[in-house]
Amino acid sequence: MSTQKLKDTIRDMVVAGKGILAADESVKTAAKRLASINVESTEETRRQYRNLILTAPGIEKYICGVILFEETLSQKTNSGILFPEHLAKVGVVPGIKVDEGLAEFEGSIEQYTKGLEGLGSRLEKYKKFGCRFAKWRAVYHITKDTPTEMAIRRNADDLAKYAKICQEHGLVPIVEPEVLIDGTHSIDDCYKVTDKVLKEVFAALKKENVMIGCAILKPSMVISGKEAAARAGVDEVAKKTIMVLKANVPHELPSINFLSGGQTPQEATAHLNRMHTLGENLPWYVSFSYARALQDPALKAWHGKNLEAGQQAFLKRAKLNSLATMGKYTKEMELDIAAVQ
Ligand code: 13P
Repeated sequence: MSTQKLKDTIRDMVVAGKGILAADESVKTAAKRLASINVESTEETRRQYRNLILTAPGIEKYICGVILFEETLSQKTNSGILFPEHLAKVGVVPGIKVDEGLAEFEGSIEQYTKGLEGLGSRLEKYKKFGCRFAKWRAVYHITKDTPTEMAIRRNADDLAKYAKICQEHGLVPIVEPEVLIDGTHSIDDCYKVTDKVLKEVFAALKKENVMIGCAILKPSMVISGKEAAARAGVDEVAKKTIMVLKANVPHELPSINFLSGGQTPQEATAHLNRMHTLGENLPWYVSFSYARALQDPALKAWHGKNLEAGQQAFLKRAKLNSLATMGKYTKEMELDIAAVQ
């Protein structure tokens, strides 16, 4: 195992003012996104969708890493360059989603993540395409009875096993425990669950001897359920999120990159920005690894045909989130198109 290689990848992915783009929708999820703009999902339309986002001119000013889906590795840009090669050429680190989706525990709504079997050999294949980091997502459902201790432990163990295998193969693991936003739960319920989940994840990483200094955490924010009667505001989300991270995340971890998890693009940006204006001393780099919050406005503007409008919409969100990592975003910028070009 080459620790230097992992350190080099961390250096290239933890860059002030930049974040990670998740463009790793599975075929099924990509079909859902394309259906929302009335585009049929085929291998070619999925390629066009990736081309829209990944070849946006100047993407590298705001994005330092992109999580890809396996199919995209062997697809090409409109100019005929393999997507991972194109990214590397403009200075963006290509990475890959390596989990194989979710499965249900018998008789329960709770889920675990598939994909540990044969993971090492898949990583070797992905490395040949230029991938330098990986992602694995575990999910936790908040209801009156869940998540259970059993699901929290199983997902923590699997995240740790995955992270260990990645590091052994020279890839930086992004560890993604997502406490789902679906439900009517309060922000305090979300805090309690997130606290338990993170405790278990870091205990498991330690037990597996994962090098925390060569891993990235991709958590959900501490937030009210989407259907909660009264949802917490920006200030409370930012404060409680930072509080739970300070209580659980070791200082050696280099970077925390949030998922957007069903927040609107504006909410995701405002929350990240507020974390940087609280006046708290943050021991890690705190940034984004959004999928929907970066891509949804671009999909709408593109509509399967208007490449330039789609790319501008993507670059606008990328720039606003870049500003948020420095606490320099304001709501007014949402309306000021000129300010973000
Ligand atoms: P969202 O930002 O859309 O939640 O996606 C992040 C992600 O990578 C999910 O695994």
